[in-house]
Amino acid sequence: MMNKSYELAAFSHEIKNSLTLIYGQLQYIENENITLKKDEHWLKMKEDFASLFEMIRQTLRPSDTTSAAMEPLDLVDLFHEIQSSWSYQMDREHIHFRLQTDSPGPYYVYGAKAKLLQMFHNLVSNAVKAIKRKKGASQAPNITVTLSREQGHIVLNLSDTGIGMTREQQARAFYRGVSFIPKGNGIGLSVVHEIAEELHIKIHMDSALNHGTTFTLVFPSTERVEALPV
Ligand SMILES: Nc1ncnc2c1ncn2[C@@H]1O[C@H](COP(=O)(O)OP(=O)(O)OP(=O)(O)O)[C@@H](O)[C@H]1O
Ligand SMILES: [Mg+2]
Repeated sequence: MMNKSYELAAFSHEIKNSLTLIYGQLQYIENENITLKKDEHWLKMKEDFASLFEMIRQTLRPSDTTSAAMEPLDLVDLFHEIQSSWSYQMDREHIHFRLQTDSPGPYYVYGAKAKLLQMFHNLVSNAVKAIKRKKGASQAPNITVTLSREQGHIVLNLSDTGIGMTREQQARAFYRGVSFIPKGNGIGLSVVHEIAEELHIKIHMDSALNHGTTFTLVFPSTERVEALPV
């Protein structure tokens, strides 16, 4: 175990060194092309770069990795960020992204921002790939996120109109190293699973081949204090 975290730290450290170099080049390019400062794609790229940096930084923290700052976060805000990170690829693939809520919100959950974003990015990445892999592409490919409240729990559904999975695939999809895509690493869902365990989020997956897939995340109740007898 110690070996593994030691390796991870060493690896993260190397990545951080490379990122630092790349960031230096980006700054140089930006200074040479001042119009870039007004290019929303460029700015978004820099933002994504910053969150990658932050993720690496947290992995390198001497205390254990679960200590990433926990704070109340509005899922609506987080999904606006996710949407803007993916807007270029979604546009290119003509994927419509929808965020639906059963009441105006906010939808506060308790968690570490970097971890929640990592979890959602992995789910969205899979959804985009699933849509791209669907033969005779669907009429209106979309990724829909719905937020609702059920018995003191916030429930998030993320569904796609992608290729879906067979029962056998569904049974194995969360294992590390399992991928059904050429060149896939099979890491994404195992990371999603790990983060969900850490943050006490229940995950359920429902999928139908050639129709699509829905992930349901049930967040821990934030109202348990009220349930205590007086
Ligand atoms: N939304 C989805 N629709 C269809 N299949 C999915 C979906 N999400 C996951 N899968 C299937 O589960 C497998 C495992 O997913 P996972 O995210 O762990 O790995 P990956 O996407 O193949 O590779 P990586 O995430 O490491 O780049 C995928 O290869 C894919 O076959
Ligand atoms: Mg993946």
